[in-house]
Amino acid sequence: MQAMTVLDTRPDDAYANDRAHVFHSWSIQGALTPPVVTRAEGSHFWTADGSKYLDFSSQLVNVNIGHQHPKLVAAIQEQAARLCTIAPSFANDARSEAARLICEAAAVNLDGCDLTKVFFTNGGAEATENAVRMARLHTGRFKVLNHYRSYHGATSGAITLTGDPRRWPSEPGMPGVVKFWGPYPYRSAFHATTESDECARALAHLDDVLMVEGAHTVAAIVVETVVGTNGILVPPDGYLAGLRERCDRHGIMLVCDEVMAGFGRCGEWFAYQKWGVQPDLVCFAKGVNSGYLPLGGVIISKPVADTFETRQYPGGLTYSGHPLACASAVASINIFKEEGIVEHARMLGSDVIGPGLEKLQANHPSVGDVRGLGVFWAIELVRNRETREPLVPYNAAGADATPMNDVAAACKARGLWPFVHFNRTHVVPPCTASVDEVEAGLAILDEALTVADAYVTA
Ligand SMILES: Cc1ncc(COP(=O)(O)O)c(C=O)c1O
Repeated sequence: MQAMTVLDTRPDDAYANDRAHVFHSWSIQGALTPPVVTRAEGSHFWTADGSKYLDFSSQLVNVNIGHQHPKLVAAIQEQAARLCTIAPSFANDARSEAARLICEAAAVNLDGCDLTKVFFTNGGAEATENAVRMARLHTGRFKVLNHYRSYHGATSGAITLTGDPRRWPSEPGMPGVVKFWGPYPYRSAFHATTESDECARALAHLDDVLMVEGAHTVAAIVVETVVGTNGILVPPDGYLAGLRERCDRHGIMLVCDEVMAGFGRCGEWFAYQKWGVQPDLVCFAKGVNSGYLPLGGVIISKPVADTFETRQYPGGLTYSGHPLACASAVASINIFKEEGIVEHARMLGSDVIGPGLEKLQANHPSVGDVRGLGVFWAIELVRNRETREPLVPYNAAGADATPMNDVAAACKARGLWPFVHFNRTHVVPPCTASVDEVEAGLAILDEALTVADAYVTA
């Protein structure tokens, strides 16, 4: 029997059918001209017009293992032949092993870690929703505190937690969410001039918020351990420990959203491990299996899990713990270990990207700040280094966004696919990128930044 062809369409059809029938995320539908991607491998992808791009965005900062890793593809094929799907109420080897490996990874560098159970979701937003639900039911409290500079997903609760402007059209959203300012040394909300001062003042600000909100009414403090899309904001040493201390003092759940920061991105299995702080709940998605299949989840500490030992957990998903997705997570975590991908990501940050970005900052007056760790870096562009006036305003659109659009176009014209947000371009290639690939990407950024330099006024 002849093998059945699953897809037999030409790039022209793909484009025409997209424009006719596909409704895209976050977009003015009529303004879209999406490139048709035909192939991807490692740190690169190709479009139908023959262009090859170095993926300096890892798509949506999720393809941590690189594109089309052969062992990961093979593991998915093997599982597909064995068992594609089974309802969440059954036990299944792929699901059980994924949960075990994720808990093991969550405990690295933490003495006495009690992150022992995993609730699987289809992605990051559902992880946020369920972490908040668990924290509320466990504490019997309602309020959730989180940072202004944040993204936590686009479902109704998660978008309410989100601090960036993508929240505005969905307001008023879920009740009980209160925002506070987190640390951002380059643009301190507290007029601090040193990292340690920024840390102390941010925590004092949180103390004020807890005082006026009533700490005893707060179920959870939800933070991106390292803020991703909203700036790659690495917390100063002591900040995460300060959050932990306040949560312990007031009986609040500390929820770390590691959807973007986790699974190697920060040169750790999970970013909180860098500071030796254990959260009560951890949200993950993206890098757990590099998006080869949709998967996310919440890692649950024992006291929270125990709440639901004798009481029903009122949440679920048809695809919770989907065997195909879980098998890909098992394979991905094992490949990470075999290939030393977490260590490689840490080395790329300390030996290649960090020093490379410092050189770019020295060469380009438009570079106001560079910051990050692992393969999670931002270049913040300004018109004026003295005043730190951003190259484009907060949430710039239309003509206001032209300078950043020009930088992005200069990257793409040179074969680099950038991740651009507001006045920043992020350096977020796959964790598996080679030193040569990263250096090639930085050389392209060096050329593209001359476009930003032309807007500098002082
Ligand atoms: C920190 C963080 N949390 C949550 C999400 C939402 O994940 P998803 O798009 O899989 O729902 C994202 C997505 O970018 C994210 O970066």
